[in-house]
Amino acid sequence: MISDQVRILKGSPTMNFLSMARKRESEGHQIIHLSIGQPDFQPLPSIIETTKKAIDEGKTSYTVSSGIPELRQSISQLYQEDFNVTIDPNDEVKITSGGKQGVLAAFYTILNRGDHIIIPEPFWVSYPDMAQLAGATSVRIPMTTDFSLNKDEVLNNVTNKTKAILINSPNNPSSHVLSSEEIRFLKDLVEDYHIYIISDEIYSDYVYIDTPVRTLLTEFDNWRQNIIVINGFAKTYSMTGYRLGWTISNSESAEGILKIIQATTTCPTNFCQWGGVTALKERAQARELINKLFPERRKVLMEEVKKTNGLSLKSIDGAFYGFVKYDFSEKSSEAVAIDILMNANVSLVPGSAFGDSAEGYLRVAFSRSVQEIKEAFERIRKYLGQ
Ligand SMILES: Cc1ncc(COP(=O)(O)O)c(C=O)c1O
Repeated sequence: MISDQVRILKGSPTMNFLSMARKRESEGHQIIHLSIGQPDFQPLPSIIETTKKAIDEGKTSYTVSSGIPELRQSISQLYQEDFNVTIDPNDEVKITSGGKQGVLAAFYTILNRGDHIIIPEPFWVSYPDMAQLAGATSVRIPMTTDFSLNKDEVLNNVTNKTKAILINSPNNPSSHVLSSEEIRFLKDLVEDYHIYIISDEIYSDYVYIDTPVRTLLTEFDNWRQNIIVINGFAKTYSMTGYRLGWTISNSESAEGILKIIQATTTCPTNFCQWGGVTALKERAQARELINKLFPERRKVLMEEVKKTNGLSLKSIDGAFYGFVKYDFSEKSSEAVAIDILMNANVSLVPGSAFGDSAEGYLRVAFSRSVQEIKEAFERIRKYLGQ
């Protein structure tokens, strides 16, 4: 009954895993959720207050499709103040319903049917389905063991059909943050082959290694030629349910993105955008909270993995995921994740969700408390007989 185009979409394996865990919970099991890409803190009280006030003031109608001028202005100000990058709030910023809509709109805007987009593994689960919807082919690049870009494979796969490369740094699920050498490689790549970089920077406020780079915009003098940046409010401010994000691009691409917004959601939710204005004003406080909570959780996760025979972890550079390799079983990562859910009541995501070359890994989100992380690993060790 359903169309071919939709039938071949894979859906979200992370969400599928979450519903499996929820089902088990409804059967009375107490699950520790280390599978969710969502921080466990609430948005700052001032964000909630502004959102409520906006509803009370009747900010419940449609807004302009680009997003309210106040929010676009705040985003432009953020890039100016934090990164010294000048962006036109009218022509170069679009507010989207989540970072997800931003990625989809960027794909539709620059990819023609039949074009190729290079998607390095491991990748966020939604990219290939989005490329599919846009009628493009996703060319997947197998990952390297240190999660850095597989440069030779990228070069081997660039053809005259290649229109773009997807870059997600800090990366979900590997946590990898681009090195200066990789950035140099990307500069050469776009110069030599005139392709776009779609840069998903949604985890830009979660970085644990020493690097000054928070956005590719600071690294490319001529970023307007070929970079589209996606970011949003979900991770930094824990505003996942607000469904609020933004894109930065040249004005031509921004017009394309606007058309997709108009064709799909008309505009982002009015009162949520007002919450977004307050969030950006409070960004120092939000970053402070992240820095208070996450380096400690990261450290605990690395220690717990070390204590567990059969698990290993390269490093955690950014985001809030550990991409953990297992060698205690020959089973697929999906089977292992199900075993752990059923026997240890800990929910993780199998590596295979993030590309074929990520088989043999498990994604562990450390967006939960230190106590939960410790308890989860105690349960896993018990299940493994350690
Ligand atoms: C890499 C990556 N990009 C984009 C998103 C989408 O975020 P949003 O909730 O703003 O749509 C996510 C959410 O998990 C993500 O992990």
